[in-house]
Amino acid sequence: MSCPHASSDDRRSVLTAVLRWTAAFSGLALIHPLLKFTGFTVKPKPRYVKVAAPLPRSGVHAEREFFLFASPDRQTAWAVSRTCTHLGCRVNFLEDKQMIECPCHQSRFSPQGLRLAGPAEKNLPAFPVELQKDETGSVTGYVVTI
Ligand code: FES
Repeated sequence: MSCPHASSDDRRSVLTAVLRWTAAFSGLALIHPLLKFTGFTVKPKPRYVKVAAPLPRSGVHAEREFFLFASPDRQTAWAVSRTCTHLGCRVNFLEDKQMIECPCHQSRFSPQGLRLAGPAEKNLPAFPVELQKDETGSVTGYVVTI
């Protein structure tokens, strides 16, 4: 013998659970586009790249993401991004012309990353550089934060 009320309650509780799960999944599915629309981003953790001193005689060290430059006395160093601010191509340093050039549309930048010419409208971003020194004050390396 079956009870009609018990099966109705069972169906109601199953339907309620299904509706709750559907609402939960719908809410989760809407969170991503909503966060994207509001411009919310999670900043990636900074990465530290160590470069040993001395740099090559040219005074520039090339990594995939940045160029590291050092002054002739090696007491000052700076790093600029290798990602072109126009459309994102990887830029090259022209040692003979002492400038950075983009191979895609020939935007040009100074070694400090200042825009000189081309379709790019912004300077190359700079990355902080920390000098590592030994007890005598000689520079032993550079740490670039990207
Ligand atoms: S991507 Fe560099 S100039 Fe266009």
